[in-house]
Amino acid sequence: MKMNELKLVYFSPTGRTRKVIMEVARNIDLKSVSHDFSVYKEKKPVLKFAENDFVLFGIPVYGGRVPALFAQYLQNVTGKNTPAALIATYGCREYEDALIELKDLVENNGFKVIGAAAFPAEHSIVETIGARRPNKADMKVIAEYGVNLNRRLKKEDNFDNIDIHVPGNRPYRKYSKNMLFPKADVNSCTECKACARSCPAGAISIKDPKTTDHKKCIGCLKCVRICKQNARSVNSLKYRIAEGKLKKVCQSDKAAEIFL
Ligand SMILES: Cc1cc2nc3c(=O)[nH]c(=O)nc-3n(C[C@H](O)[C@H](O)[C@H](O)COP(=O)(O)O)c2cc1C
Repeated sequence: MKMNELKLVYFSPTGRTRKVIMEVARNIDLKSVSHDFSVYKEKKPVLKFAENDFVLFGIPVYGGRVPALFAQYLQNVTGKNTPAALIATYGCREYEDALIELKDLVENNGFKVIGAAAFPAEHSIVETIGARRPNKADMKVIAEYGVNLNRRLKKEDNFDNIDIHVPGNRPYRKYSKNMLFPKADVNSCTECKACARSCPAGAISIKDPKTTDHKKCIGCLKCVRICKQNARSVNSLKYRIAEGKLKKVCQSDKAAEIFL
């Protein structure tokens, strides 16, 4: 089949998933168009892809699941038996039901999954876990996934016989309630609004960036990383407890898993 365009549909509050999806894309011989859902959109865009598009879906794993906010965006993303490949990045703990959930979500919306992969990355909450991953060696493995997908796209005329199996359970794990919610320090916040503009969940008020709607906040910590004044932080005791727990269950040297 003569392929049209490569579409990148992803969620990446703190940039690791973006780095991975771009490296995969670099190895696919198609012009690419990005749909980055980590930029908050009041109205969820409607995306309809054709049979000869190829779509790469990328997510960070949150509590062993697809981030709920991204799953909401996916409701408006449909294909016509459109070939697609999956990318999940995770912070060296586990990815549990994230890949199977992502596969179900996209297949129910008209996509045919022809590849899937889970890549370990720096943990976006405790950055000493898997520090600086994806690193040089990871990028080679990530590029190879792109090369293999490209080969598959060129070789196959129809993808009906491809049957990708990924680990995970149904029903999926329950969403975790153990999140760290950042707050603004009213004294050091200069109201520059960088946090409000970059929040993927629209949880920080543009008018008053010192207030956060904790019902909307997804605990991604992008605002903490982006604030030049270091005015946004999570409760230090809660952070230390989370850090201690995560350090026991994460392994910084986890390997990528690729399903083709
Ligand atoms: C709220 C939240 C939940 C997370 N849950 C998991 C998890 O279940 N397993 C895991 O290994 N990493 C977990 N992580 C780490 C991220 O999946 C990982 O760092 C990912 O690469 C971040 O991607 P991004 O930089 O594209 O946002 C979590 C991070 C956050 C902020």
